[in-house]
Amino acid sequence: MSNCRIRLYQDSDYDRVREVYSKSVKDLTPDGFYLALRSFHIRLFIFIVFLLLLVTVRSFLASIFGVVLMLIFVWWCSRDFFHSYVRVTFSSDMLDIQKTYMQGDSHRFWVAEYGGTVVGMVAVIPSPLVNGEMGMELKRMAVIEGQRGKGIATALCKTVLDFARTRGSKVVVLETSTVQTTAQRMYVRMGFRKIKTYDYGKIKARLIGIRALAGATDHGSMGFIYKMRNTALKRKCI
Ligand SMILES: CC(C)(COP(=O)(O)OP(=O)(O)OC[C@H]1O[C@@H](n2cnc3c(N)ncnc32)[C@H](O)[C@@H]1OP(=O)(O)O)[C@@H](O)C(=O)NCCC(=O)NCCS
Repeated sequence: MSNCRIRLYQDSDYDRVREVYSKSVKDLTPDGFYLALRSFHIRLFIFIVFLLLLVTVRSFLASIFGVVLMLIFVWWCSRDFFHSYVRVTFSSDMLDIQKTYMQGDSHRFWVAEYGGTVVGMVAVIPSPLVNGEMGMELKRMAVIEGQRGKGIATALCKTVLDFARTRGSKVVVLETSTVQTTAQRMYVRMGFRKIKTYDYGKIKARLIGIRALAGATDHGSMGFIYKMRNTALKRKCI
């Protein structure tokens, strides 16, 4: 972490930031796959397919083939979920990072630089809370594989919390998914609490059991503020 520097985003970072984000999110495909395989319903479904093929086609090989096809389908659902997430992000808020995150007093986008190369990022934007107050939302947290486990995301998270505190924000919210267990652990360690689990609208995510998690922190000084699902929360952070 000593060689890592956190600084504000510059236009010259654009391509690298998109590359790091895209890779970090798409690399979650195996995690989504293994999460799906841990689901009782999916295991049961695969077993039923296996038995049905065995009984109807009377071929062990065909049954195994059916199971392999099912596994490929589950992998494809996970891959498609993360790939389409990146596509949507790149055509919305990360299309023009400068405009989305660097204009306005409460908007920021930071990058983590290691040895002169961008290896991570995080963003923050204002977020309306249910009680009419303004909070902030942490978004686009990512650290490239190979630089993980060095405390870079922790430092990025701290940057956001410090910024929110100086802007007088009483709560910081974020959205992650059930797949992102490393991120969840880090957020909990940084004082976030899970406030809600809910389904994504996407059928493929539902099929393989990827669910969204909303989290919030109150800097340890304010009462816990429950954030309901609203337009800010629908902008998914993974
Ligand atoms: C989640 C993520 C940002 C964490 O980045 P990071 O810089 O590795 O985070 P930190 O080093 O601060 O902490 C990671 C935790 O994993 C542990 N760890 C150790 N070695 C590790 C490794 N090789 N890889 C990942 N984590 C490792 C750390 O010790 C730490 O554990 P703790 O929270 O129990 O103390 C990164 O894994 C990532 O980009 N994931 C994909 C995108 C994503 O999920 N983003 C979150 C959006 S909501």
